[in-house]
Amino acid sequence: MIQLYHVDKIYKQDWYALRDVNLSIGKGEFVFLTGASGAGKTTLLELLYMQEFPTNGQVIVGDYSSTTIKRRDIPYLRRQLGIIFQDFQLMTDRTVYENLAFALEVVNTPRPQIKPRVLKLLSFVGLSHKLSALPYELSGGEQQRVTIARALINDPVLVLADEPTGNLDPQSSDQVMQLLRDINLQGATVLMATHNTEILRHYNYRTIRLDQGRVVEDRSPLF
Ligand SMILES: Nc1ncnc2c1ncn2[C@@H]1O[C@H](COP(=O)(O)OP(=O)(O)OP(=O)(O)O)[C@@H](O)[C@H]1O
Ligand SMILES: [Mg+2]
Repeated sequence: MIQLYHVDKIYKQDWYALRDVNLSIGKGEFVFLTGASGAGKTTLLELLYMQEFPTNGQVIVGDYSSTTIKRRDIPYLRRQLGIIFQDFQLMTDRTVYENLAFALEVVNTPRPQIKPRVLKLLSFVGLSHKLSALPYELSGGEQQRVTIARALINDPVLVLADEPTGNLDPQSSDQVMQLLRDINLQGATVLMATHNTEILRHYNYRTIRLDQGRVVEDRSPLF
């Protein structure tokens, strides 16, 4: 599903955000990406959805390679991905329902399929009762669940989550983790950046640790 070969990402001529990263993540895996602030976690995720490109080396995601992908193919790559950002990036002047429906409209989903799909995802994240709410009327945890619903609405094969529990209390964090675990059990590959040590301890998943742009640890699940 994901392969990185000798990937460097260099900013400003000599700043290595990533250095000689080699990784392989298989279909259906759940993987944590961890490391201190500035270690390169977000940069690595940006390379995977091809927001950024490696300075050296190659990134492969599904059928696409950073060395050969055309600009016009990037939207097709992203249609297979569910991307969850730490800052929610919901449209503030649209309701919860409209935010989710929009994600389907932009990929030309046939009209009759939109409503049932939105309602299904809202039910999945436990927010059916909030469909008419505007984002500012929701708690942080609820907003994050809307962004998860949005990320999952097109049935992604790969979910990229950048600190999805970053601003949440332990209970909301648990809800988010349950949702990501369910998605993974349904077959999606999940790569989640976090430095939440509680979560890393509590969930027994493969853990890749970055330190100053290098992979310094790649720990398999303990059973
Ligand atoms: N667009 C950019 N231009 C210049 N430097 C950048 C850019 N993006 C990231 N960097 C640098 O690359 C390094 C890695 O940043 P990155 O955002 O990937 O870290 P991170 O592990 O996600 O940190 P955090 O836990 O704080 O989110 C940092 O030193 C950062 O300053
Ligand atoms: Mg980051």
